[in-house]
Amino acid sequence: MKTVTAFAPATVANVAIGFDCMGYALKDHGDLIRLEQISDRNILIEQETGDSVPLDPSLNTAGAALLSLQQAFGLDFGWKVNIKKGIPMGSGWGGSAASAVAAVVAAETFLPHPLTSDQKLLFALDGEAVTGARHLDNVAAAFFGGVTLCDSRTKVVQTIEVPELISVCIHPRFSILTSESRSVLPQTVLFQDAIEQLSRSLVGLTSLIQRDFFALKKVFGDQMVEPLRAPQIPSFEKIQKWAQELGIGASLSGSGPTVFGWFTDLSSAHSWRDQVVELWENEGLKTQVEVCTLNQKGARVIYEE
Ligand code: HSE
Repeated sequence: MKTVTAFAPATVANVAIGFDCMGYALKDHGDLIRLEQISDRNILIEQETGDSVPLDPSLNTAGAALLSLQQAFGLDFGWKVNIKKGIPMGSGWGGSAASAVAAVVAAETFLPHPLTSDQKLLFALDGEAVTGARHLDNVAAAFFGGVTLCDSRTKVVQTIEVPELISVCIHPRFSILTSESRSVLPQTVLFQDAIEQLSRSLVGLTSLIQRDFFALKKVFGDQMVEPLRAPQIPSFEKIQKWAQELGIGASLSGSGPTVFGWFTDLSSAHSWRDQVVELWENEGLKTQVEVCTLNQKGARVIYEE
């Protein structure tokens, strides 16, 4: 029976200036999903490596994405699903989205026709919804790579390529559930705060498109959501100040606890990484790091037989 393996990268959502609508993909960390077709309609999940995930398909983001796709097309077959989870759970690295996206990318190869962008996003979002939220930021970034802007309501996604930027992601090895970190967010925000954040978003995005990193640095920040979540991150203010001194800035990756920084040269990126790793390790926190230019390609099939 046919077997296909797909990779979907870890992603950074929010990116300081695009809460719930902006993301980008990393290169090394990611999830691998191998699908082997079986003749009955079951989705049988096994996990090979990484943090444990539920094996019940309706509770597993890859499984739920596959169930949605299987139902939408009335498929009369199912899959054995093998998961190699390269992204730590609750890290803020988009692990739930990556598994769902890799599952959809692999499953597409079993269909008689390619999926539209809308279909891909919908099935992966049905997988992501297992975590209790239906926002597209991690899903879109994992699928398409580059810096992605998305509207979760209409599923319109735009991608821009910014190959010059260097991203540093540092995960202090503890986890925060997105559902918990969303529960600290208010139902309403002050009009003035919304206007200020909107200005940061629009000017920041335009600066990014125009490669005006000097302007981007001036507006790069999140005064709406980050202050409510940052207290959970040890020494966050110091870490952010160092990134502002060395590069464009830093913020939480998704809902944390990973922090990311953006830099325009590798030596500054490495300096920041070394400072943060030393600080956290002195505070007794283990760290996991990825330094990379942005992944411009996103998820892909890596093996088929
Ligand atoms: N945009 C989402 C949030 C990403 O910050 O809650 C969570 O992975």
